[in-house]
Amino acid sequence: MSVVKEQDHQNNQAGQTAMKRLSKPIKVWVTIAQVLTIFSALLAFVPYLALVWLGDIFLSVQMAGEQLRAEQVHEVVELLIMAFLSRLFFHALSLIITHFADMKLRFVIRQQIVSRLSRVPLAWFSQTDSGKIRNAVQDDTKTVHTVVAHAPVDVLNGVLSPLVLLVFMFVVNWRLALVGVATIPLYFFLQGLSMKDMGPKTAEMNRHLAKVSSSMIELVAGIKVVKAFGKTGEAHQNYQEATKDFSQAYWEWCAPLIGLCSVAGELISVPLLLLINLGGGALLFVAGFASLPQVLACTLIAIVLPVAISSVANTTWSYQMAGAAAVRLCNIMDTPVIPETNSPKQPNGLTVQVQNVTYSYGDTRALNDVTLTLKPNTITALIGPSGSGKSTLATLIARFDDPQSGSICLGGVDLRDISSQTLYNNIAFVLQDPMIKSY
Ligand SMILES: Nc1ncnc2c1ncn2[C@@H]1O[C@H](COP(=O)(O)OP(=O)(O)OP(=O)(O)O)[C@@H](O)[C@H]1O
Ligand SMILES: [Mg+2]
Repeated sequence: MSVVKEQDHQNNQAGQTAMKRLSKPIKVWVTIAQVLTIFSALLAFVPYLALVWLGDIFLSVQMAGEQLRAEQVHEVVELLIMAFLSRLFFHALSLIITHFADMKLRFVIRQQIVSRLSRVPLAWFSQTDSGKIRNAVQDDTKTVHTVVAHAPVDVLNGVLSPLVLLVFMFVVNWRLALVGVATIPLYFFLQGLSMKDMGPKTAEMNRHLAKVSSSMIELVAGIKVVKAFGKTGEAHQNYQEATKDFSQAYWEWCAPLIGLCSVAGELISVPLLLLINLGGGALLFVAGFASLPQVLACTLIAIVLPVAISSVANTTWSYQMAGAAAVRLCNIMDTPVIPETNSPKQPNGLTVQVQNVTYSYGDTRALNDVTLTLKPNTITALIGPSGSGKSTLATLIARFDDPQSGSICLGGVDLRDISSQTLYNNIAFVLQDPMIKSY
């Protein structure tokens, strides 16, 4: 079990490294958005300041038995509007920037994957199931971009805004501030308990999900064969087992947490916070330790504080998910490709020479020391039993992969020394794959 945990921990680390790598192309933009978010978060306290200020003005006017004059509140209203507009401006600008970054990131990742996959050897596709590739291009890119492009800004805002409000509360009235944050340590404690092992557990869930996904694809891909052999019922078994394992693991993880999470949720629920803050505030007011506007402002802050904090907690979860997705994306981007020469040569003529070519798919030997010459303006038919290597030889001439030994030359130049552009200008192919019919 500890080996699995160690493995999960490593996966977690690998996830963070992979995310750093993927976020590189948009790092500058995300940093700019973060700076704007800092400006916006620093202004978070102004409405509450204005509230206290306004309350003080109203109360003093009422105590003196006077009529309120517009110029008495001019300054406050101006401050409120200015702060609101500036906050809106900074926030909107940072959102625009993150969305641009987000688009760019998705584009860059998908482009890199496609350009990589177009250069990998043919054998790679038979070793990799198509579900994995689809997952990477579609789902993983989506999971990663949200976290890489949005989370740095969201987390900063989620941490900084409450912090500014907290400092403001203590500056306004430290006694009210203490009442306001009374339930938060307990909330954090319970939340911490429920988040324990979050990383390894998420990695475990991902493992189970991957199994469900691949067994589903297996089932669909093999359905023709299964039906032909009349084994429909048995074919479901793998998939059923995978889904059962997943739901069991999920339940084992979540069931004990349900109670814990509901209590934690109650601690930051609005009714409880209102009760504590208005009740405590009223006592402090009666005792002469707080003014009414202070009680109101601090109560309002106490209500919004936990919401901001819990949004940060949720992002942590997204980070774990995105880590695993980022690793899968990086793996695909690192798939070894067929090397492209730096100093391409021009083929002299169109004669194809296959010399002592040996090629294997993993352990399966497909071609063994094959030598032949194909002259221009001639037709060659390769005839042999199924599995004798006809398609393999044809694909090697189209350089879908390089032979493990021997060489293939076009016009006297090894295919490895010809640019792919030149090669495909001279070689055309129609493979036996029936998919071609649909184009
Ligand atoms: N993508 C692959 N991955 C692993 N092994 C493969 C792959 N493609 C072919 N092989 C194996 O290599 C050998 C040669 O296969 P190849 O497809 O070249 O034969 P073929 O002569 O074209 O057969 P057919 O007449 O059925 O088209 C076979 O043993 C086959 O199982
Ligand atoms: Mg064939």
